[in-house]
Amino acid sequence: MKTVPANLQALESLAQQARLCQSCSLAERRRNVVFGEGDPAAPLVLIGEGPGDQEDATGRPFVGRAGQLLDQALADCGLSRQDIYIANTVKCRACDWSTGKPVNRAPNEDEVQACRQWLWPQLKLIRPQVILCIGAPSAKNLIKKNFKITQERGRFFRSEHARAILATLHPAYILRQRNISGDGGYSLLVADLQKAWETALELHRRRAPSSSPIQPAIDFGEGG
Ligand code: URA
Repeated sequence: MKTVPANLQALESLAQQARLCQSCSLAERRRNVVFGEGDPAAPLVLIGEGPGDQEDATGRPFVGRAGQLLDQALADCGLSRQDIYIANTVKCRACDWSTGKPVNRAPNEDEVQACRQWLWPQLKLIRPQVILCIGAPSAKNLIKKNFKITQERGRFFRSEHARAILATLHPAYILRQRNISGDGGYSLLVADLQKAWETALELHRRRAPSSSPIQPAIDFGEGG
């Protein structure tokens, strides 16, 4: 019989509170709060930017076109969504309504700040070994403000939320780039995902307390 992770109830209760959130203006037009989903005991957590139209409609992260590409990258690493946990920097869809029709936009600093009241405790409850930031906005929120995705993706950094953190290209960016040249960076997404997963498994296997030295399992390089 599969055991129920001890943090499941606490996460569900946090999700219930988040569903009532009115802390920023994104609450006014949202259809659903997209809290996150997956294995609450997963060694690896993926954090995206924020819900788009499909996610807002369903309440589930990464279910649109970008999500389908992410599923393909997971499958290419021999993984499925059940192996990991997926959430976003902000839990409600950020949209520009100035033309009368919703146009997705990046969440602003106030919205990102407001949503930390959910993301921080969510990560504290899951306590992943590794966090993989999907795209620059997530990396800027969780790694450092001036994160440069093209130069610094795939490199480990230290984090207060996990034993290591890194970032990769966003599948939506890859879909746009693919129209311009080659695989649009898809092979980098797969390589970063594989690296994140293997390191997470290795750290999980060692299961040392997060305060203990983790070298040589991880090379933090210069920036980390
Ligand atoms: N893009 C994201 O960053 N997150 C989602 O959930 C969907 C698309």
